[in-house]
Amino acid sequence: MQPIGMAVAALTFSLMLTFATPADEVRQNQQNGWNQQNGDKDHDDKPGACESQSVDAPGPGCAKALVRLFEQGKEIFRFDTFGDEDYWGGMLQLHKAVEGAALGGVGPGVSPRTALTVAGLKVDVDALPGDVQAKLRHGKVDLDSPATTLALLKLNGVVGVKGFFDTDGSFSSIGITCALCHSTVDDSFAPGIGKRLDGWPNQDLNVGLIVSLAPNLAPMASQVLGASDSATINTLKKVLLSWGPGFYDAEVNLDAIGFRPDGKSAATRIPAAYGHLGEDLHTWTASFGDVTYWNAFVANLQMHGNGNFNDERFNDPVKYPAAVRGGFFKLRHDPDQVTSKLAPLHYYQLSLQAPTPPAGSFDPAAAKRGETVFNGRGKCSGCHMPPLYTDAGYNAHTPAEMCIDSFQADRGPTGAIGSTMVTPQLSGLWARSKRGFFHDGRFPTLLDVANHYSACFNLALHPDEKSDLVEFLKSR
Ligand code: HEC
Ligand code: HEC
Repeated sequence: MQPIGMAVAALTFSLMLTFATPADEVRQNQQNGWNQQNGDKDHDDKPGACESQSVDAPGPGCAKALVRLFEQGKEIFRFDTFGDEDYWGGMLQLHKAVEGAALGGVGPGVSPRTALTVAGLKVDVDALPGDVQAKLRHGKVDLDSPATTLALLKLNGVVGVKGFFDTDGSFSSIGITCALCHSTVDDSFAPGIGKRLDGWPNQDLNVGLIVSLAPNLAPMASQVLGASDSATINTLKKVLLSWGPGFYDAEVNLDAIGFRPDGKSAATRIPAAYGHLGEDLHTWTASFGDVTYWNAFVANLQMHGNGNFNDERFNDPVKYPAAVRGGFFKLRHDPDQVTSKLAPLHYYQLSLQAPTPPAGSFDPAAAKRGETVFNGRGKCSGCHMPPLYTDAGYNAHTPAEMCIDSFQADRGPTGAIGSTMVTPQLSGLWARSKRGFFHDGRFPTLLDVANHYSACFNLALHPDEKSDLVEFLKSR
């Protein structure tokens, strides 16, 4: 193992060589909004349009326009903070906790080892220059030093986390991107280090723990809980630390409800961002809206990006006191760093297909029999309609229909038929099942799910039917 200083010097050196690449320029432009950057005003002002009127076949402009949307959306999904570093670094000072007191911040700092194991962050191996990869392979990078974490951030190598550095190299702020929660890596280099898998939920990520490290939680406590004294900040920390790996609570900063009535965490599993093409309503709780609604919601209200956002449903001090405190029903920023990105982000997300289950991970003959149960005796396809496996039309149901409590459903805006849950599509279940099933992971296995439905719908499924059903679900 090299002394810390040398390893960092090596990393920092290779970083200088790779800095200010065209990709960085694209990212920089993108922070300013897509409209101004490529001079193609016609297309950028009409998001998604590749022909301006109806035609019999897509013109040559379409192919180009769609590739561009995909590429822009990918960059945004992976690297765009929407200016949220003003919140995470500027207000909460999270970067100081990452760098640690020895480097000018506070506390012990976050080493790569802690980031990978305790926090569940992932490293994008393709962002690391060859010599850094070689050093890592030979154990010559100090994984116990926060300085190495900063070097990785400078290389843009930590999935979903963006470091901001002054010209003198000092660490000035930190921001997050969609990829933080909705991407992972394939572990091809080492556990937690590999190629990006966009759309796959990071089931190891401990968001609550990471946020709890922020030196200044007062702004978050005042918005979420309405006060910022030390007792309230401790309550906030308790809430954050109750989430655990693979979970996040996207409603607590609307309704200020940190725990379920039974005292358990109110957080939900981080869902997949793949396999959503063709679905109407989104998220676990149905009535928020569709994918593009939610993208704007998350970028502004969860990531705390600097955008414009309207939703009068949150102007409700009884149901959403925290949202009212945050002015979430009508946010305005100049410049708006979100809205111009919604079209490409939407396109990219809907282009993410669910991953195919690995060969040998299920029994094909049993899966075939299970499909018959799914569409027949199991009554599953009444809601999970093939080939989308969510309802065609209004894809939401009251919790009572699935024999579950209404705690989470009640937290969403009231929809057309009251409090509801979305029928989740079932593709790529194998890549999003580490933390169990249903919104809060209450069923650890698919057999538990099958048992639950058998009892709920009075199906009296035979054990063989249940295990076939499980194999079918694993094959999706
Ligand atoms: C801090 C973690 C986190 C970040 C960052 C994040 N999300 Fe999510 N995302 C979640 C969670 C948790 C949910 C489920 C929320 C709920 O139902 O209450 C979710 C839900 C979604 C859904 C709906 C999925 C479904 O099954 O219907 C989409 C789409 C989505 N996010 C896209 C994005 C995009 C795009 C970004 C960046 C603008 C983003 N998310 C940033 C955690 C995150
Ligand atoms: C009345 C509509 C309805 C029917 C019928 C139904 N489901 Fe569901 N299903 C849902 C909803 C809504 C959820 C989300 C529940 C939650 O998140 O708490 C869900 C969740 C699931 C999940 C968990 C997905 C995940 O990502 O956690 C699986 C697996 C599943 N259903 C399989 C089945 C099977 C198998 C059947 C038949 C035995 C079935 N469902 C019947 C509506 C339905």
